[in-house]
Amino acid sequence: MKKIEISKSIKYVGVDDKTLDLFESQYIIPNGVSYNSYLIKDEKNLLMDTVDKRKTEEWLENVTKALENEKLDYLVISHLEPDHSAGIKILMEEYPEMKIVGNKKTFDMFEQFLNVDFSNRNVVVEEGDELNIGTHTLKFFMAPMVHWPEVMVTFEQTEKILFTADGFGKFGALDTDEDWACEARRYYFNIVGKYGMQVQQLLNKVVNLEVKMICPLHGPILKENLEYYINKYDIWSKYEPEDDGVFIAYNSIHGKTKEAVEKLAEILKQDGAKKVSISDLARDDMAEAIEDAFRYDKLIVASPTYDAGLFPFMEKFLRHLKHKNYQNRKVGIIENGSWAPMAGKCMESIIKEMKNVEICSPIVTIKTTMDEKNIEDLKELSKNILAK
Ligand SMILES: Cc1cc2nc3c(=O)[nH]c(=O)nc-3n(C[C@H](O)[C@H](O)[C@H](O)COP(=O)(O)O)c2cc1C
Ligand SMILES: [Fe+2]
Ligand SMILES: [Fe+2]
Repeated sequence: MKKIEISKSIKYVGVDDKTLDLFESQYIIPNGVSYNSYLIKDEKNLLMDTVDKRKTEEWLENVTKALENEKLDYLVISHLEPDHSAGIKILMEEYPEMKIVGNKKTFDMFEQFLNVDFSNRNVVVEEGDELNIGTHTLKFFMAPMVHWPEVMVTFEQTEKILFTADGFGKFGALDTDEDWACEARRYYFNIVGKYGMQVQQLLNKVVNLEVKMICPLHGPILKENLEYYINKYDIWSKYEPEDDGVFIAYNSIHGKTKEAVEKLAEILKQDGAKKVSISDLARDDMAEAIEDAFRYDKLIVASPTYDAGLFPFMEKFLRHLKHKNYQNRKVGIIENGSWAPMAGKCMESIIKEMKNVEICSPIVTIKTTMDEKNIEDLKELSKNILAK
């Protein structure tokens, strides 16, 4: 079992998964992912969540070992998504006296995920309910739509540990040494991002708890400098830009749009842009592009016209952004086309569906190869998008 210290009476019993191709069948995870699970040992033993079906065997070994021949009295279900609920059935069989703690919504959906009878075993908790297991007392807070309806977070009041379900989660197995914010931000905007308002509601509930440790269901346990992480979640969930900079997302079939994008990056830097980050939407990770769009306060999109519409990756990117509630940003548009450029109109119409997004003039139209007039347009766009 991996040695991950929580406290004297709380044991980490989760597992790493380094062979999954795509998390949620969508997100690349170059450093894997962890499915976290925690055992609280007390007069009654209580387990916080189970893991994905890919790893239940290893996880069950961890649980059994950590229990040291004692029985398991409670299982708390923070979130029913299969990456956390696949072990429930096995636990129910192993520990016939174990009670299952969830809220009404948890049990409304329970049978859809687990074809097993939970009657006489379920403990239904509501907002603010407490459960004493000896020296530890758990308090439950509902977190509906962060990012599923049944999600709840649990505060252990003696040690002041907050179990946050997928909140504060991060891609990357636990032995990965990498920047927290980069992969936590990619996780947040792609998986939770649409529900900023619900995250705000949750943050308001837990702000006065004097939390000493955050235990999420994925990624590292956060023990120090908690204001840093909470502040990031506050910024992200308010859809506020985190950094002053320009993110340029582009497509280019034969390289001419790419040339324009590179020229614009040069101009932006000359004009004093603090940071310019560029992504080729056909080749780079789409989830990273979504993350960067939210990270910076300015976005430029550039696409060739393709069959009288947008190149498919740009269409996908903008639809994703809209879906994740992208808002409060300045956006510039560059289109390319050889006979009837249409990409600009298409990008503009999707962007106009977004809340509080200012489209900076001019919309730059390139007919195949950038000319002198285009360079003047790019200079004007740079000035306008960088203007305060
Ligand atoms: C499959 C395909 C479809 C295209 N459809 C259009 C179109 O409908 N209208 C247009 O003006 N140009 C169209 N083009 C031309 C490109 O938009 C144009 O050549 C552009 O300059 C390509 O920029 P790039 O060098 O960055 O790839 C199409 C090109 C391809 C390969
Ligand atoms: Fe989830
Ligand atoms: Fe999850």
